[in-house]
Amino acid sequence: MIKNKIRRKELCNKIMSPREASMFVKDGMTVATSGFTPSGYPKAVPLEIAKRADEGEEIGITLITGASVGDELDGALTRSGVLKRRFPYQTNKYSRNGINDGEIAYQDMHLSHVPQFISYGFFGKIDVAIVEAIAITENGGIVPSTSVGISPQAIRYADKVIVEINTSQSMDLEGVHDIYMTENPPNRKVIPITSPGDRIGTTYIECDPNKIVAIVETDITDKVRPLGPIDGNSKLISQYIMEFFQWEVKNGRLPKNLLPLQSGVGSVANAVLGGLVDSNFNDLTCYTEVIQDSMFDLIDAGKVKVASGTSFTPSEEGLKRLNDNMGHYAKHCVLRPMEISNHPEVARRLGVIAMNTAIEVDIFGHVNSTNIMGSRLMNGIGGSGDFTRNGYLSIFTTVSSAKDGDISSIVPMVSHVDHTEHDIEVIVTERGLADLRGLSPKERARAIIDKCAHPDYKPMLLEYFQAAEKGRYKHQPHMIKEALSWHDRFLETGSMKLK
Ligand code: COA
Repeated sequence: MIKNKIRRKELCNKIMSPREASMFVKDGMTVATSGFTPSGYPKAVPLEIAKRADEGEEIGITLITGASVGDELDGALTRSGVLKRRFPYQTNKYSRNGINDGEIAYQDMHLSHVPQFISYGFFGKIDVAIVEAIAITENGGIVPSTSVGISPQAIRYADKVIVEINTSQSMDLEGVHDIYMTENPPNRKVIPITSPGDRIGTTYIECDPNKIVAIVETDITDKVRPLGPIDGNSKLISQYIMEFFQWEVKNGRLPKNLLPLQSGVGSVANAVLGGLVDSNFNDLTCYTEVIQDSMFDLIDAGKVKVASGTSFTPSEEGLKRLNDNMGHYAKHCVLRPMEISNHPEVARRLGVIAMNTAIEVDIFGHVNSTNIMGSRLMNGIGGSGDFTRNGYLSIFTTVSSAKDGDISSIVPMVSHVDHTEHDIEVIVTERGLADLRGLSPKERARAIIDKCAHPDYKPMLLEYFQAAEKGRYKHQPHMIKEALSWHDRFLETGSMKLK
């Protein structure tokens, strides 16, 4: 069945069952896989590794992926006790619980750092790479499926490579990828991308055929995640951002077709891009990580000519739409290794407009996007830091309150810091938009409280800030004990509101 997809014929003798292929993965190994958001990750072999553990075999591994992957990998390996160490991002409820319960050691990393951690040897030896592909070319090149992520580095640096050829993935994906790899310093060269659609590499990942130890057939589909409906709050957030863009164009700080857009994961991020469909902006480009459903709307509306990312990240409905029209969308999209999609050099050169989501923001503009109440890990920083630090404009969005209003998303001091005051230019909630450019910390605090806070919390925030201002130090005034009492109060009484 898959023989016609293996165009380098002598590799056909490496075809074996997922169980046989899984035997190359042994206790104590480091395994690097394809997959970015639940797209293009290996499925059949990880399920067999989990089964072996369920049958009583002692097996624990370190797993490195591009970003989050589906339940066949993170979920199954966690439930079977195989997953011991995990890098650099996850969204699976089982692995999240395993991390929060201390059973899995996790390092939450900037995604652009992961490929070079592999090439620098900072993770140690990579024993096995397991990558999903749609085909193997005549010269042994591996054609990835719906994501690229760390696959080029996994393949180059692993001792052994296992390829899962997934027949459920569209063959129209061939040609959409642009694989370019950097060398390590001091030999690293300029990445020659000056426009989001530039193609600078090959449509396959080069691989020494001698390293391929197994080829497996599967038709298990990507377990993509549902997207929440575009609700009123998301629409308001999107509307403020559209007005802000118009203002920036009017003032000559943005061109009429804006600058390449980066948009984070999730429903709000999807809604923000959705707002552009009905806007009067045209000829837009995207230099981002994930290509979500709204991007397909923008392409179909003729608003986006080119979207560059490292993965297609559709919802369940979006997946069918994508598969039914892959040829069409592939013409407008480029999938790159995540080292390139998230590269600081390129983001800075292109002048990316970075739009990401926060869990909470403090009055001085520090952002927490990973740890609820300071210590319950949600997902991870993902690529948000790569774009926030290096973009032309960094925007963070959040709804102003959470948990039915018992939590204010604007707080005196965030309980965990992912992005600092130095990196963030704009904060937007459904209440309004605070433009922080050129403002001192105290000016920022007034702008954020005034424009972004929920009315139930605005007086409390103002009271806090005014009391702090009376203190000895006037630059970024805080009352540390009082600042953190907001989270304590929620944990103790179930609400940040004062009784
Ligand atoms: N305090 C406590 N909990 C909060 C909160 C706050 N201020 N704000 C939100 N939450 C809770 C929500 O209630 C929800 O909880 P639940 O899962 O128990 O229902 C959870 O956090 C997620 O909130 P939601 O509004 O559904 O968020 P989302 O789907 O828009 O995701 C992030 C928001 C921050 C978790 C998500 O964007 C993320 O993981 N970001 C980091 C990675 C990233 O930015 N990647 C993109 C780079 S390209």
